[in-house]
This record gives sequence, C-alpha cells and structure tokens, in this order.
Amino acid sequence: MTLYPKLITDALATVVYPGTKKNLIESEMLADTPSINGMKVRIVLLFPRDTDPFLKSTLKAAEAAIHYHVSKEVEVEIQTEFKSAPRPEVEKLLPEVRNIIAVSSGKGGVGKSTVAANLAISLARLGYKVGLLDTDIFGPSMPKMFGVEDVCPYGVHKDGRDLIEPVEKYGVKMLSIGFFVSPDTATLWRGGMATSALKQLIADADWGALDYFILDTPPGTSDIHLTLLQTLSITGAVIVSTPQRVALADARKGIDMYRNEKVNVPILGLVENMAWFTPAELPENRYYIFGKEGCKSLAEEMGVPLLAQIPIVQSICENGDEGTPSALDYETAMGQAFLNLAQAVVTVTNKRNREKPRTPILHVKSD
Ligand SMILES: Nc1ncnc2c1ncn2[C@@H]1O[C@H](COP(=O)(O)OP(=O)(O)O)[C@@H](O)[C@H]1O
Ligand SMILES: [Mg+2]
Repeated sequence: MTLYPKLITDALATVVYPGTKKNLIESEMLADTPSINGMKVRIVLLFPRDTDPFLKSTLKAAEAAIHYHVSKEVEVEIQTEFKSAPRPEVEKLLPEVRNIIAVSSGKGGVGKSTVAANLAISLARLGYKVGLLDTDIFGPSMPKMFGVEDVCPYGVHKDGRDLIEPVEKYGVKMLSIGFFVSPDTATLWRGGMATSALKQLIADADWGALDYFILDTPPGTSDIHLTLLQTLSITGAVIVSTPQRVALADARKGIDMYRNEKVNVPILGLVENMAWFTPAELPENRYYIFGKEGCKSLAEEMGVPLLAQIPIVQSICENGDEGTPSALDYETAMGQAFLNLAQAVVTVTNKRNREKPRTPILHVKSD
C-alpha cells in the first residue's frame, strides 16, 4: 500500500473537534500537509491552547481514524501546536498587580459582596487602578450589583495569548463567575470544574496593571479559598461581619483560616456591617439590632483594626439591587462611609507592605 496525503486528510475529516463541533479539517486544525515516509505519517495539529480540555481525546480520535480509514499498519505521529501561548506559571501570574485583597466573612448574607463592590468603587474614586473578581460560584452577585447582568465579556488576543477582557464599569475592571455559569447549574459542578473556571478568570484574563485587586469570596472556607491561596499571593484579608454573635463566631473561624501558619495571610482589618439602624425620621437615634460593637470587641481580641462601621441603610440594599452601589455618590453619608473605608484600607495595606514580606503562595503537597 502507498500512502498519500489525501488519504490522511480524508480520515481526519471524519474526526469532529468538540470545541467547534466541526471536523479537524474544517476547524483548520491541520497545520501542514501530512508528511509521509513509507508507512510512517507525521501530522501537526493546531489547538487553541495547551489547556484545551479536548486535547487528549482529539489526538486519540485522530489516530484511530487513520487506523480505521487508511490502515492499521500506519505508524502515526502527532505533534501539537497552540494558537495561544501557554499560561504563565503561578509565581509569574499578574506581574503588574500590586495588592490583592480578599474580602471574606464566615457567614453568608452579612454584606461581604456589598462591602467588596463599594470598596472597589471607592478605591477607584481615590484614583487607584482597581480590579474586582467575584469568586462566589454559588451566589455570584457582582453582575447585578454593577448592573451588567446581560453583559458577556469578550476575548482579546494579547502577547500571544487569548484572554478574557474584564467588564469595565464605575472605574473598576470586573469579572464574575456569574458571567459564565448560572447559580442553578453551579450546584451540579464538580469541585474541579469550579476551580478550573476560577483559575481561568485569574490567569487567562486581561487584568493588566492594578493597584488593588479585590476578591469577593464565598462564605466560610471552601475549595474556592484554597484555589485562591494556591494561585495568588494575597496581600491581606478584610473580614466582614455583623455584630451578631453567630456572625462573629464565624468571622473568628475565617480569621483563623487566614492566620493558619501554613496560610499566613495578614488580616488587614474588620468591617462591621449592619452595625446599627437609624430611622430617617429620628436621625439621632441608633438601634443596635444585632448587638452593640461586637466587631469592636472581636477586633481588640484578635489585635486587628476595625476599619469601618456601616449602619443598616435601606438605600444600600436598593442601590445594590439597582446596579448603582452607594459608593457612587459620595455626597451621601453612605458614599462617604465607603470612601473612608477605602482610605483606611489603603493605610493598613501600606503599613502591612512596610512591615511584612510578600505573602507566599500556598503549596499543598499532593501525596
Ligand atoms: N449596611 C446594609 N444596609 C442595608 N442592607 C444591606 C447592608 N449590607 C448589605 N445589605 C443587603 O443585605 C443583603 C446581603 O448582602 P451581600 O452583600 O449580598 O452579603 P454576602 O455577600 O455576605 O452574602 C443584600 O441584599 C444587601 O443589599
Ligand atoms: Mg456575596
């Protein structure tokens, strides 16, 4: 039997690449004419990137197709090339990002996302370059808070890589896992899928130069936190809690996680949210619905600063729902409160950077 290129390309035309749902030839993945030497065939297949999920199965299918349609005797050698340059190793990710701040809480519903969004916007208003990543896979809230629920981020080609372009609004570059997965299907995700999606949002996005990269994290401690610690050098954590006892107990657990000797992420401070309620008609009155100054005591006990006390204000909730966070209007008391919080965060971050070395990225030995 004599081999010639068309035999091989016809065989490859029977293999569908799941990424395009078209065959390898139509998908323009065959980089060159197959080179043939006796019964030896060498082909070069071009994939979008080295992390392509269909890589292995496609290579197997291509070889099988040649064996089936041409001859079992053919010795197939497949070389792979990639359109997008490989993802840099973890230590070299985000080289132009100066400070990475995780906004955390033990308990859900204490206002972590509200604080993260308003902090990010206020930092931008102070003139810093700010990025915000919503990592709460089961309850992403940034698309709604930024009023960009219908937006789908597009791709850009930069430095030989295909990158996701963050959405830019209110001076903040923002990405949310919610752009790519709806919360109802998120529950069906296996852990590995969630973490690989999260890694893409960090490593394969065009974050560029940032002074502050704010991470809104899910409640508690989870796989997502572990992935963040294994992927990023987190400058420090801001812990959000209400003064309520259960929230404080969970906040303490959150602090302990970051302070764990293997993790070693400095706690920049606490934010007491829903600190009190003041009715519009009685502006002098403060009602301590969830207890008084619980976060102040926790901050003292833990030896960390209390960065802000944010009251319960109906407009915070409404503005969040409407996609126009309170921080946008610093004429208001709330806008001013978040601006003060941003200033406090800048101060504690600078102090931390003077006093402590860069946080090492967590390496977990797999055995
Ligand atoms: N200080 C506040 N005053 C009034 N409503 C608030 C305040 N902080 C948060 N909320 C509201 O509480 C709900 C939960 O807040 P969210 O930021 O989503 O919490 P988390 O991210 O911790 O789950 C949202 O509807 C939000 O608008
Ligand atoms: Mg949230």
